[in-house]
Formats: sequence, C-alpha cells, structure tokens
Amino acid sequence: MCSRAVVIVLALTRALEVACLKNFPPGFRFGAASAAYQIEGGWNVSDKGESIWDHIVHTRPGFVADLSTGDEACDSYHLWEEDLKILEELGVDFYRFSISWPRLLPNGFSNHISEDGCRYYSALIDGLLARGIAPVVTLYHWDLPQNLQNLGGWTNPLVVEWFADYARVAFFLFADRVNTWITINEPCFVCDGAYRDIIAPGLKDHEIGALLCTKHVLLAHAVAYRIYDEEYKPIYGGEVSITNQEFWLEPKTEADLELTLLAREYAFSRYTYPIFSAEGGWPPTLKAYMARKSEQEGYPRSRLPALTPEEIQMIKGSFDFFALNHYTSRTVRALKPGEQPGHYMFESVEEVGAVLESKEQWASDGSEWLKVNPEGLRHNLNLTRQLYGDVRILITENGCSSADTLNDTGRVSYIRDYLEQVLLSIEDGIKVIGYTAWSLMDNFEWRDGYQTRFGLHAVDFTDPRRTRTAKASAKYYRNVMRSRSLHVDHKIEL
Ligand SMILES: *[C@@H]1O[C@H](CO)[C@@H](O)[C@H](O)[C@H]1NC(C)=O
Ligand SMILES: *[C@@H]1O[C@H](CO)[C@@H](O)[C@H](O)[C@H]1NC(C)=O
Ligand SMILES: *[C@@H]1O[C@H](CO)[C@@H](O)[C@H](O)[C@H]1NC(C)=O
Repeated sequence: MCSRAVVIVLALTRALEVACLKNFPPGFRFGAASAAYQIEGGWNVSDKGESIWDHIVHTRPGFVADLSTGDEACDSYHLWEEDLKILEELGVDFYRFSISWPRLLPNGFSNHISEDGCRYYSALIDGLLARGIAPVVTLYHWDLPQNLQNLGGWTNPLVVEWFADYARVAFFLFADRVNTWITINEPCFVCDGAYRDIIAPGLKDHEIGALLCTKHVLLAHAVAYRIYDEEYKPIYGGEVSITNQEFWLEPKTEADLELTLLAREYAFSRYTYPIFSAEGGWPPTLKAYMARKSEQEGYPRSRLPALTPEEIQMIKGSFDFFALNHYTSRTVRALKPGEQPGHYMFESVEEVGAVLESKEQWASDGSEWLKVNPEGLRHNLNLTRQLYGDVRILITENGCSSADTLNDTGRVSYIRDYLEQVLLSIEDGIKVIGYTAWSLMDNFEWRDGYQTRFGLHAVDFTDPRRTRTAKASAKYYRNVMRSRSLHVDHKIEL
C-alpha cells in the first residue's frame, strides 16, 4: 500500500516534470515566415522594378531545376487576404514576411517610392494588426534591384548608402506599425551563396567578391540599425536585428576540433562576431588565417577586407536581439590530399579546407541537404550563448521540406522534435524568445522551383486562385500554439 503510494507520487512528480518541460514560458512567441520573391508573384505589375531573381530566371534557362519562375508564385501580391486568412486560422502571434526592395523603390533609389508598393505592404500590415498578428518585417530577402546589381551590387561600397536609404524609407512608412525588423536575411547566402553561383545573381567569385560582400552587408545592416535606433526607437521602441542561418557543425573526430572552430568562424562568425561579440571586428583566428593565406597566395593584403576602427565601432552592438535560422547539422573533417571539396556550402567550408558530412542516423525528409538532427539546434543555441553571452534569441526560421502531401507526418515530427530542443534550451537558461516556422505555405524554393515544399499549407499551383490548404503540420502547429505546449496529440486527423 505504502510503496504503491510512493510509486504513484513518483509517477506524478515525473508527469509534472514532463508537463513543466513541455510548456513554453509566458511571453514566448510563435510565428510563420515567408519571403517576397518566393510568394508574391506580380513581378511586373505597375511600376515594380526588376530584381536579380526576376532577371536570372528570365535570362538563365535551367537555373531553376523545374524551369519555373517566381513570376506568379503564390500570387500573394493579389491574394494577400488569403494569406491573412490562413495566418488567422493558424493562430500565430506574428508573421515574418519581407519587403521587395524593387517593389517599394522601383529603381533601387529612394527618389521614387512606388505608390502601389507602399499601398500593398501597408494594407498587409494593417490586415495583420487588425487580426492581432504582429508584423515582423525583413528588409532584404535576396531580391536586390537588378540595376544596383549592374553597378556591382553587394561588392560596391556604395551599396551601404543605397541600403540605408531604402531602410530609411521603409522605417518612415511602416515603423509606426512594425515593431520588429530584420535588416538582411542570411548574409551567408547573400554573399557566399550568390558568389558560388547558388542563388541570384549567380556569380563565381567566392575568393574576393563574397568577402567584399561580407563587409558591405555588415556595414549596411549596421547603418540601418543606427538609423532606427536614433530616429525611431525613441518614438516606437521597436527592435532591429539581422538574421543568420547557422547549421550545427561538430568535429568528426577529436582531431578535427580546431578545424571545426575555424570552419565555424568562416561560415558563420564572419557574419556574427563583428556585430555580437564584445570586441567587435573579424573573429581573431579567422582574421589571422586569412591574412596568412592571402600572403602565401601573393596578395599585398588580406582577401578578408580590413575594417577601420570606426567601422568596427559602427558594426559592434548593432542589434537588439539575436535572430537565428536553423535547419540542419554537419560533421567536419579535413580535406584529404588531392580531394576536391564540394562547392555547395552544405558540402564544404572550402576556404579553410573543411569537408562537411552527415551522420548515418541523421535522416532527411524532402531535401537531401536537410539532415534531421534536432539536438543540433540545442547545441547551436548553447554555442550562441557561449560566444555572445546572455543575448535574447529569436528563431526566425526552422522547418523542413516534405513530399507533396497534406499528410506531412515528417514535418510534424520535425517541428515537434526541434521545438522540444527549444524547450530544453530554455531549461538550460538560454533566452529563446520565439520560434518561426518556415514556411507559411509552399512557395518558389529558389533553385528547386516548386518541387521542394516547405509549407505548413499546400498551394495548388495549377489553380489561378492558388488555393491554400492546411496540411497536418499546420493543424499540429496550431494546437501547439493554442496550448503553448508540446503536450498535444501529434496524430492529426486530416
Ligand atoms: C508580365 O509578365 C507576364 C509573364 O509573367 C507577361 O505575360 C505579361 O505580358 C507581362 N506584363 C507586362 C505589363 O509587361
Ligand atoms: C553547452 O556548452 C557548454 C560549454 O560552454 C557545455 O559544457 C555544455 O555541455 C553544453 N550544453 C549543451 C546542451 O550542449
Ligand atoms: C498519414 O500518414 C501516416 C504515416 O504514414 C499514417 O499512419 C496515417 O494513417 C496517415 N493519415 C491519413 C489521414 O492518411
């Protein structure tokens, strides 16, 4: 009798612990995300300018695997009220979307603001607020005005001014209603992806171009941050950051530890250390490595461009929170003599001679590159705290692609398992303040076109009305948000 009572008490305690663990703290926010070029369509309506994505899909046949374009995509330019409807049904606290630079500023410069562009984003923001959904706005999600690309794009130092002018217009128009801003989405793709011919503008110049781009992206972000901080924060009290995609890198063997640290610095800290570290400037080990390597290659100065003391100060501390996109993990080992590294950023960190691989037990669902390792997210969050202290972290993207089915059980498991790691991280004392599912709906997935589907909602791309339908994952995610816990049935009736 007595021992049974003890067993019952123990079982109850354990149940309480689990229940405790599985509840998100008050104030934790949930959202879903999209990006302008991937959903809007309306590429040539009214006075909209051409973006580098408009340009490349129309001029480089075969750049997109299924030969598709984002000309119409989900047609959110016309069907934005359908997006509001599914967001409301989903029950998100916020919606992260991006503004198309050439839709708002057709020629890239701030001398002409598109009335249509302004009206479009203004109506979307008002529609969200009317439904109690906070807008989280990304200024740059990869769609540079093509005419700025013709002037060198992110390798031209003047891009810092151009971006600052654009940011100033967006803040002027929308800061009265938008309290959370992301300046630039995933600079590793904006620079390394773009100059490894992975995304638009599809250039091959990763040794010089990508590194010039890195410096200018950091400065552009910082100048935009300072504009908001000085002119708008005192009035509206909103927050600004930059979103970095990081995958978890771990050494393949103990011997690979040092290389792993260097690979992390090249792949990720190059974009975060100058902003989030106490010292500012380039990560020290990487800076020394690049100086030495450039000298060996016969360059008169490092290929990693110098930052002046003023630039270091400008960039350092230009954040209100840390924004993290996280999808997957890799192991790191050294390139073998004579071995050709893979060119893709998920295959190698070529500059430092690191090969990236995955473990057998890390399965993938819809995309080969997206190996599922939920613990990687906890490690990544832990590393962020190790490097940058007790910063608040907003997860601005997480999700996976699945087969084209409404019964997307792989995505349900992915979201559940990654959210569980978020809860464990919160238990570790890490200040994770929110989670964003990528993506609200199936859309134009860059080089993959419409074959790769990341959506919580399916979109019928053969139907002019682009009908949106909730998948099992949308229903699961809705239940998580309603209960603020993972204590929900994940076997969803369709
Ligand atoms: C816009 O682009 C579409 C192709 O996506 C084309 O059919 C249409 O004629 C273009 N409209 C204008 C006004 O150029
Ligand atoms: C977090 O990092 C510390 C090192 O700073 C390490 O001791 C700890 O095991 C890590 N925790 C997790 C969950 O990775
Ligand atoms: C969804 O898929 C799972 C796993 O394949 C299966 O067990 C379940 O019955 C399916 N549900 C529906 C509604 O088809």
